[in-house]
Amino acid sequence: MEIQLFLFKVFFTTSVVLFLFAVWKVIDRCWVQPLRAYRKLRKNGLKGPTPVFPLGNLGEMKKSVMNKRTSSSSSSSAASKGSPSVTHDIHSTVFPFFAQWQKLHGKVFAYWLGVEPFLYIADPEFLKQMSTGVVGKSWGKPTVFKNDREPMFGSGLLMIEGDEWAHHRHILTPAFSPANLKAMSGFMMEFTTEMLDRWAELINSGEPEIDVEREITATAGEIIAKSSFGISHEDGKKVFDKLRAMQITLFKSNRFVGVPFNQFMSPKQTVEAKRLGKEIDTLLMSIITARKKSPRDQITAQRDLLGTLLEEHRDDGRLGKKLSVRELVDELKTFFFGGHETTALALSWTLLNLAMHPEWQEQLRDEIRQVVGDKEVDASMLAGLKKMGWVMNEILRLYSPAPNVQRQARGDIRVQDVVIPSGTNMWIDVVGMHHDPALWGEDVFEFRPERFRDDHLYGGCKHKMGFLPFGFGGRMCIGRNMMMMEYKIVLTMILSRFSFSVSPNYRHSPSILLSLRPAHGLPLMVHHL
Ligand code: HEM
Repeated sequence: MEIQLFLFKVFFTTSVVLFLFAVWKVIDRCWVQPLRAYRKLRKNGLKGPTPVFPLGNLGEMKKSVMNKRTSSSSSSSAASKGSPSVTHDIHSTVFPFFAQWQKLHGKVFAYWLGVEPFLYIADPEFLKQMSTGVVGKSWGKPTVFKNDREPMFGSGLLMIEGDEWAHHRHILTPAFSPANLKAMSGFMMEFTTEMLDRWAELINSGEPEIDVEREITATAGEIIAKSSFGISHEDGKKVFDKLRAMQITLFKSNRFVGVPFNQFMSPKQTVEAKRLGKEIDTLLMSIITARKKSPRDQITAQRDLLGTLLEEHRDDGRLGKKLSVRELVDELKTFFFGGHETTALALSWTLLNLAMHPEWQEQLRDEIRQVVGDKEVDASMLAGLKKMGWVMNEILRLYSPAPNVQRQARGDIRVQDVVIPSGTNMWIDVVGMHHDPALWGEDVFEFRPERFRDDHLYGGCKHKMGFLPFGFGGRMCIGRNMMMMEYKIVLTMILSRFSFSVSPNYRHSPSILLSLRPAHGLPLMVHHL
């Protein structure tokens, strides 16, 4: 009896200790650590909006978005009675809270997503000083986003850090070599031709209003599916549909990122995102496994990204470069997701602006006539399409598909007399910098591709870190050359067959769903040339 009582006491005491320890861990993570970080930021002179436990500044952010939506919907319904009203002054539409806080706290300040401290940066000089001397592998990526977006990117290049990132980047870079990209140009032309034939049929059957964003996103999805892992139309569509469903699910629940236990606030979405993530993984794993089993010459014959990676990482131990199937899945998911939507959005926003500026459609057609003539466009001609390059950069400035860049400090960083404590997340507001009159001048909100004529890299921006469509430093976008190639091929093919104008049904409402997209699609009136 005494032994039983003794065992019960031991069990009871251990349970109480474990319980108290768990409670302490939660209090430490949710209260003590954030409070310490808050004091450290304040001590270092980094002010900002006052956070409220446990939401941080999320309450204010949500309110600001709601207010903006209400005011935009009343103005757009007024506009819809006449011709569509389009302004390129979009910063306060897509990030109304940052636009407000900038007025109060300047271009660098601290704010809070739940219990996570973030440093907001829209000052290129601060960014330059902050990043000088920090190499690619020393930057962290916000843990809070890594967890939140795990089903989408897993441990792909976008999310990993340190030596693991350096190792993967080294392995993946050759997959984007000019020779490999050139091999992909065939897929780009093939799928674009199919899309344009579809447009021709629609026009011939009396339906010239086409949602170009939906069309181009689907085509870019096919292109990336084929160029990444050589999969068929049907398999590509399956992955594509599931990824899109996951994106919508994730970003519906994204409102409480950083708040402790936020996964329990929207349990249905959390479970749904995980389920979709698993289904995509299974699909991709079966594709990779089948490919690995095929004869070696077939593995690489297709010259897609997967073929290149498998060839580079044969099981012969060369350079120890091998990626596991799990790692390949995450990299392919990252390419698929990071690679098609951004490019499709750049093209869609371009078509909107060219529809508003028929004189630029004509200028680009003239250039295409001179450079491409009657031949089929091919990769070697693209460098000659200079004006198209200016238009592309102007769109990446006005409607940057990647509206922000993120980092997390993995050590204290000093910028003049400010110390950014280790662990601080950073949110670099690309839209904010691309729309800053102090950097671009009074015509900042105008579509003026010619600003890139004399300064084709920075478009006359007063600071070299003020134009960041592909990020900065060693972690800059690995797929940018692929994007530029796809952009020029698809746009050349569209402009060679059709002209277009803005549909009266278009409602200008740029919004963020990870990327910067038109909230209500992008209907244009398309005509045969
Ligand atoms: C308009 C098209 C695109 C835009 C605007 C864009 C933008 C970006 C940005 C802003 C970053 C983060 C850079 C940083 O943190 O400093 C990034 C990274 C990345 N992008 Fe892109 N991207 C585009 C197209 C593509 C394509 C076509 C692919 C691949 C097929 C791709 C794959 C990636 C990957 C894998 C990373 C992670 C790089 C790393 O962390 O080392 N992107 N991109």
